[in-house]
Amino acid sequence: MVNEAGFALGAVLTVLAVFFHFSRGTRWRPGEDISQEILDRRAETVPETEFAEPGNRAIGGGAVPAGVPAGEAGAELEEGEVEEEEGFDPEAIPEDEVEYHEIEYVKEGETIEVANDENLLEAGEDEDWDLPYSCRQGQCVSCGGLIPDGNAEDYVIHDGQEMLDEGELEDGYVLTCVAYPTESFSLETGETP
Ligand code: FES
Repeated sequence: MVNEAGFALGAVLTVLAVFFHFSRGTRWRPGEDISQEILDRRAETVPETEFAEPGNRAIGGGAVPAGVPAGEAGAELEEGEVEEEEGFDPEAIPEDEVEYHEIEYVKEGETIEVANDENLLEAGEDEDWDLPYSCRQGQCVSCGGLIPDGNAEDYVIHDGQEMLDEGELEDGYVLTCVAYPTESFSLETGETP
């Protein structure tokens, strides 16, 4: 009796499974994606920006920070760019404006002419002097030297030194790898603050 009932139930379920498998369903189809429409609608409610449309406005991208008008932010950037442009670039010195200065390398016991587009380290190396250096980019003090006569900025211009503070420059210290002469002077190499 039990086996017959189980068999009958199994047969009914099998028939139902086959029926639903081959049935055509409700013919429901998903509607069109409405997310783009929502993005467009939200975009219309926030200010115009220079970023790509319209997702940027929908997610708040490109919003101007409170209290900083876009015009002022742009002006700051321009100022920074100008400052950079005004930095000293020895390679930009035209050939007919190259000047030579007499530099006495005290410890090496010689005075040589150094052009204003040549740094003090390379000028000394051209003489085969074994001068100290490391980064050659003004970012350490390995190449340090001293102008005993006074304020270094009266005698050299640095191309991007990042190590000497105002007081050390006033004491006459230079970073020879990025120091270019603007006057004649005496230099003690291998001197650091
Ligand atoms: S070698 Fe590093 S600052 Fe000159």
